[in-house]
Amino acid sequence: MKAEAVTIARSLAALRREVAAWREAGERVGLVPTMGALHRGHLALVAAAQAQCRRVVVSIFVNPKQFGPREDFSAYPRPEADDLARLSAAGVDLAFIPAVEEMYPQSFATAISVGGPSEGLCGAHRPGHFDGVATVVAKLLIQAAPDAAFFGEKDFQQLMVVRRMARDLDLPVEIVGVPTVREADGLALSSRNVYLSAEERRIAPNLHRVLQESAAAVIARGAPAGAVLRDGLAELTQLGFTVEYLELRDAATLAPLSELWAPSARLLAAVHLGRTRLIDNVPVARM
Ligand code: PAJ
Repeated sequence: MKAEAVTIARSLAALRREVAAWREAGERVGLVPTMGALHRGHLALVAAAQAQCRRVVVSIFVNPKQFGPREDFSAYPRPEADDLARLSAAGVDLAFIPAVEEMYPQSFATAISVGGPSEGLCGAHRPGHFDGVATVVAKLLIQAAPDAAFFGEKDFQQLMVVRRMARDLDLPVEIVGVPTVREADGLALSSRNVYLSAEERRIAPNLHRVLQESAAAVIARGAPAGAVLRDGLAELTQLGFTVEYLELRDAATLAPLSELWAPSARLLAAVHLGRTRLIDNVPVARM
């Protein structure tokens, strides 16, 4: 049986009309914000949303405010027809696909800046990135007014930034984190993986392997973790990655932890492989 085509809203007014009808019927609404080029990672968020919400909205918006001037905003993949087919097959209720002018009308002048979890890691290497993310996610949460919104642990720092923002701004929404979906060889699914050459694609899964082995070594050797991180950095570099960071952080606050042991830590990395930037992270928890 052919799946029913997903309803599309391109304007804020259309989005609000749809959501208002559901609210009137007392239905719980979930939001999954994305930039499109949808893969199984995004669909895991959709499945998590459907498991706890009667209605699910997926937004597709390549947000110019979160790309730096030398980043891939114009090259970012935008396969809208494929995305819509995936959302239809998944039984999503509504795709919200605003144009840039709908999201940021002329003279738009507001920015949301979250301190704390935005600092360091990707925040240090992509100035303004998390302000762009926080601004667009705040708008989406206000526009769709969902009961719950779903974010991947793949972008762990982003998940923490969104959580802190929702709490600090008293947004009446539950922020739900969803575990990272990986290829069989461990590579985290990402819309940017299409940039990898065949040779780079062969090397890429080593990022997750080194993270896993480093996490195991931190658990086995305990604090301080400095030597483990130095070994991990050296191995990644030797494999051909240019490492932006490899850091151990508190899993709840993202505060630095390299010389301490915490019951719940996270090991996070960002690397470049050729022209592709990859990020990944794993939990470091005593079993
Ligand atoms: P995007 O990269 O499209 O990712 C959308 C959501 O899918 C994010 O919450 C991300 O963490 C999640 N995701 C991506 N790959 C995943 C994987 N392999 N496993 C599980 N979840 C995965 O992240 C963004 O877009 C944007 O910054 C956005 C939040 C939409 C704001 O513009």
